[in-house]
Amino acid sequence: MFDKIIVLDYGSKYNQLLVRRVRELGVYSELWSYTTPINKIKEDSSIKGIILSGSPHYVNDEGAPLADKELFELGIPVLGVCYGMQLMAKVLGGEVEKTESGEFGAKEVTFSLGSSLTKGLGASQILRMSHYDRVSRLPQDFEKLGESILTSVAAMKHKDKELYGVQFHPEHDESVNGMTIINNFIENIVKAKKNYSMANFITYQVRQIRDRVKDNNVILGLSGGVDSSVVAALLSKAIGNQLYCIFVDHGLLRKNEVSDVVDSFGGHFDLNLIVVDAQDRFLNKLQFVDDPERKRKIIGYEFIEVFNDEAAKIESAKFLAQGTLYTDVIESGTDASKVIKSHHNVGGLPEDMEFELIEPLNTLFKDEVRELGRELGLPDKLVDRQPFPGPGIGIRIIGDVTFDKVRVVQESDFILREEVALANLDKDIWQYFTVLTPIKTVGVKNNQRTYENALVIRAVTSTDGMTAQFAHVPYDVLDKVSSRIINEVSGVNRVLYDITSKPPGTIEWE
Ligand code: XMP
Repeated sequence: MFDKIIVLDYGSKYNQLLVRRVRELGVYSELWSYTTPINKIKEDSSIKGIILSGSPHYVNDEGAPLADKELFELGIPVLGVCYGMQLMAKVLGGEVEKTESGEFGAKEVTFSLGSSLTKGLGASQILRMSHYDRVSRLPQDFEKLGESILTSVAAMKHKDKELYGVQFHPEHDESVNGMTIINNFIENIVKAKKNYSMANFITYQVRQIRDRVKDNNVILGLSGGVDSSVVAALLSKAIGNQLYCIFVDHGLLRKNEVSDVVDSFGGHFDLNLIVVDAQDRFLNKLQFVDDPERKRKIIGYEFIEVFNDEAAKIESAKFLAQGTLYTDVIESGTDASKVIKSHHNVGGLPEDMEFELIEPLNTLFKDEVRELGRELGLPDKLVDRQPFPGPGIGIRIIGDVTFDKVRVVQESDFILREEVALANLDKDIWQYFTVLTPIKTVGVKNNQRTYENALVIRAVTSTDGMTAQFAHVPYDVLDKVSSRIINEVSGVNRVLYDITSKPPGTIEWE
């Protein structure tokens, strides 16, 4: 259904961005390993274009990742980007040399020759350079398209074949007309069908899912998070009440979470929603446990038990759906179909479950999943939700977990969320929540001495959760949150703000 442009991955940090840029322009794209056998490319008739990514390697080094010459003889248009261009030059008989200083940042490139790749652009362009090496001699039958101060060959093309190379990174934000160049490749050179959209993705997936599932039932662990919610909405459209969503309430969810999920799905979507109230079961198991890793293990183990018990009650359930994303697939470096997302939901799913997996999001990036969710009619509140850890509030209570401590975290977290939303900060902050400490401090409330717990506000900005900075929440917002928590949540008489970034801190406290 979709034409495809593959990006062969030579290790550049921009390679996923290249894939996303192509998709943004309406053509489906995937990142493939540069070691992919040429036959696999030949056999896939949906591949209409190939992009060779950048790389930290020097193409003349021993062991540098190379390409089969045949790749350039398939009749499929190829665009080499940065290392990709140097690789194309070397494999086709040109030469590449090291420079002394390298060329980094936004640089002027002068195009001396018109081409389909630079159609619509003026002769002088600002483009992002990031390289030490350069093409010093063009391969036979290639011509130079343009140059920069350091690089005589800033772009090149074959005289007759659809083979192009650029030394710069058109996918980078600093490349002013970079998207025009990528679009020219897609539109004028590859001539790919521009029909990749979430609306078409739904049509395609619905058909695929129906063909595969037939009359069987599908089970999905619904966590209330973005990914599993979008899977639920998509499967509901495809197979309606053959879908059984199991939502385990382990008692460590945020305030109103259960009713929010029931409101979002109950009535609006054709599916079976099974809410399992397992609060007592989890909290009993967590009694007197204060070690963070043990808490995680107990919650994970119990989750699987509860999930298994419920799943066993569903007849003709042949499939298990999961919200695995494309980044999980890329990171694990294996075929999309083989990956099981180990950190999915609370503790990973049991290995001995005899289900076939359905992972309809495993070609999508997170922002596409959100767009898909909107297209399927999920509310913004759900689609834009901040990440929430599987073990939930269990790892936001330092020390052992009790019903009363859960209440304190739920109530304070609710106030924080209300005030962050009121201050219009919810889109700017990656994650924000409260942590209950076991530290008791002296305070005064209504002229009475208090001796209650200190509570921490944690709010961070981040793009992927791997690194994070503490969010610079305005003092007046912090002030309001603090006084509301102390006045409205019994058991807390002091509020602290965590100003640790990650690293050295982690986002969660446990
Ligand atoms: P840390 O605390 O490691 O968190 O900086 C990074 C991101 O991961 C989330 N997180 C978890 N998610 N199970 C989960 O599903 C867990 O045990 C867990 N621990 C941390 C955290 O909320 C943040 O988004």
